[in-house]
Amino acid sequence: MERRPEAVGRARRATLDNGAVVEVRHCDARSTGLPRRAFDLVAATMILFITPRPEEVVAEAVALARPGGLVVFQEGDIVAHTCDPPLAAWERLLEALHHHARQRAIDVHVGRRLPRLLRGAGLVDVHVEARTRIQHPGNDRRSGLPALIDALGDELAGPLIPTRSELAELRAALEQHLADSDTTVYSPMYVQAWGRAPSP
Ligand SMILES: C[S@@+](CC[C@H](N)C(=O)[O-])C[C@H]1O[C@@H](n2cnc3c(N)ncnc32)[C@H](O)[C@@H]1O
Repeated sequence: MERRPEAVGRARRATLDNGAVVEVRHCDARSTGLPRRAFDLVAATMILFITPRPEEVVAEAVALARPGGLVVFQEGDIVAHTCDPPLAAWERLLEALHHHARQRAIDVHVGRRLPRLLRGAGLVDVHVEARTRIQHPGNDRRSGLPALIDALGDELAGPLIPTRSELAELRAALEQHLADSDTTVYSPMYVQAWGRAPSP
């Protein structure tokens, strides 16, 4: 399930290329229109950390699972996303991202809340695992932060980074730091949590 048409197209092409038997639906994960209490497994990855009111997505996922069915979420928590040596530009950009997210009721720390969200939605037997990874030079994900900054563009400018030129300077400092193979980059914390829909 995906709500952006271009991402739906990409996913359909990828599944065709892989020969996978997958139906990609264009819909909102908060109201899928799929049958209730019907699925053995409901899984979602990396959606709540960009979604306001994540509990609505969790509630829908739980409603789709059959009694005893498994519901799995994998989400990010920006807490671990850091680098060494430290970089002032990195900290400023992250602060601006936090501010931007808060204004939109988005929780960049939603990963840590997953077990609570799943229990709150009625799941039982809830488990959780978490890890961070090293984003080595050459790994696409190492440029995740500059890519996110580019995607947000002028939206990031605000009280914390008042001018475009300041944003450009911070981004350039970040790019230079990431290009240095002696910089160690830690991914966001990835949290996987799962539980079962209660049996009657
Ligand atoms: C970070 S990407 C993750 C994509 C994929 N799940 C993965 O793990 O590779 C997040 C995707 O969730 C989609 N998305 C966000 N909110 C959504 C919603 N309420 N319903 C359906 N898709 C949503 C976005 O359009 C975006 O393509």
